[in-house]
Amino acid sequence: MSDASTTFDVPFALGMMALHESPALHAPEVLADWIEARLDQGLCWFDHADIYGDRAGEQLFGQALRARPGLARRVRVVSKATIVVPARDASPFAVKHYDSSPAYVTRAIDDALARLGVERLDHFLLHRPDPLMDAEATGRALDEAIAAGKLGAAGVSNFLPEAWRRLQAAMSHRLVAHQLQLSLDHAAPLFDGRYDALIGDGQAPMAWSPLGGGRVLTGPARSLLLSQAEAFGVSPAGLALAWVRALPGRPLPVIGSLKPERIATLCRDADLALDRPSWFALLESARGHEVA
Ligand SMILES: NC(=O)c1ccc[n+]([C@@H]2O[C@H](COP(=O)([O-])OP(=O)(O)OC[C@H]3O[C@@H](n4cnc5c(N)ncnc54)[C@H](OP(=O)(O)O)[C@@H]3O)[C@@H](O)[C@H]2O)c1
Repeated sequence: MSDASTTFDVPFALGMMALHESPALHAPEVLADWIEARLDQGLCWFDHADIYGDRAGEQLFGQALRARPGLARRVRVVSKATIVVPARDASPFAVKHYDSSPAYVTRAIDDALARLGVERLDHFLLHRPDPLMDAEATGRALDEAIAAGKLGAAGVSNFLPEAWRRLQAAMSHRLVAHQLQLSLDHAAPLFDGRYDALIGDGQAPMAWSPLGGGRVLTGPARSLLLSQAEAFGVSPAGLALAWVRALPGRPLPVIGSLKPERIATLCRDADLALDRPSWFALLESARGHEVA
């Protein structure tokens, strides 16, 4: 990535999927304090999507940015769209579906900018691969949004190589970020070629649910995480993020917790570099079998 403002030079990004369910953070001044505290910790990347709280996540975040002059310029935002939930489908089918049409994507970008109150989305990702995607038309819409300064970069989430390469071939700008599910609880992309294809194509990996939504800490690897964490002098969650960051391409974990004490612990543990046997021992204990 050549543009410094789209580069992930942080130990993890802050996922905003649970913001709408956290009423203690909903007052704009309170959320502005929370955001400012994260910025002061060096954490500037915030991960949104229009479907988080049916747009409430982005709205709350935008209200906080407006309440604190100067804050909007300091944050870096990722947002995602293309998932249409049944309540948002005006057709008689009220069916959950994906919409990557140029009109939908362009509107989604404009609406996200308005809700968040920022001048651009540093990364905008197509949230899910749409089997009906017209790559030329969608690619043109993304190129135009980048050229207009509305996006720092376009990217994808949860795509297979065939789908992102079809889109990329139709675009003049590079697809930069790729958000995929990746953790000790979900290591499949490391063994089915998806992860290799992604970094081979020069995309910047973002690992969503890097703690498996919490399951990594309670699942089969729990006891080894506890003992290794103690030996390394870090927290089990910090160790689980180090496991993700050890991969080539250094995936950026997108964490879900909004709790300041947990975030502070993960910052403290961010320098841990895992050796190869420790990494494989954790993989083995999470999967319940050794590698072939
Ligand atoms: N692109 C996509 O398709 C996609 C899909 C899903 C999610 N995402 C993104 O990924 C983000 C993270 O997802 P996630 O919530 O599943 O992530 P996660 O970080 O894997 O899991 C967060 C959960 O772990 C719990 N947890 C327990 N102990 C913890 C500890 N010591 N430290 C930190 N957390 C601990 C948290 O509880 P507390 O909240 O009580 O701390 C929270 O419930 C979302 O916010 C969203 O931005 C993207």
